[in-house]
Amino acid sequence: MKTAVISYSLTGNNEALANSIAEELAVEHIRITEPKPRTMGSIVLDTIFNRTPQVQPMSSRLENYDLILFCGPVWLGQVATPLRAYLKYLKTDLRRYAFISISGGADGANTKLAGELKKRVGREPIALIDLHIADLLPPDPKPVRKDTSAYRISDGDIEKLTGTIVKTVREAISNWQ
Ligand SMILES: Cc1cc2nc3c(=O)[nH]c(=O)nc-3n(C[C@H](O)[C@H](O)[C@H](O)COP(=O)(O)O)c2cc1C
Repeated sequence: MKTAVISYSLTGNNEALANSIAEELAVEHIRITEPKPRTMGSIVLDTIFNRTPQVQPMSSRLENYDLILFCGPVWLGQVATPLRAYLKYLKTDLRRYAFISISGGADGANTKLAGELKKRVGREPIALIDLHIADLLPPDPKPVRKDTSAYRISDGDIEKLTGTIVKTVREAISNWQ
């Protein structure tokens, strides 16, 4: 089974995690980039108008793989918009996918992700892993958005999270094979 990790990252957290997952699973890692600079304003506008931004490489790059492990941030409760073209591409074929994210989590779990993925792809992922920076910080005082958005995951965090993710993904694969 040919697997790829496909990541998008604005501030580096999901990129670092995706790198480590790809290395651990010994699979290819494809990084999504945008030709236009990403701003707070464009995040809000993509969300309000349900826009699918232009990205590189093109989503047809997925045709080489049987299983796609997406890794990217959550923005305003949704999968980061640069991943949308890829989710849309999957709607027209039956490739398996998983979604993995390290997001802020200061306001709790991102409860709309499962519904969004099902709507955009037309089927559920084999695994949905919604990890939070808030859980990596000391619990007292309770981390707020300012704390989580300033945090960059450490090598220790990456090692710990990669272990959990790889275990979950392997279990999910063995459940559908
Ligand atoms: C505009 C914006 C909106 C965000 N919305 C959420 C959110 O709804 N839920 C959440 O848990 N984190 C949210 N975050 C935090 C990011 O998911 C978090 O900082 C993540 O680790 C960034 O990933 P990256 O370094 O790979 O870009 C938001 C960040 C930004 C910039």
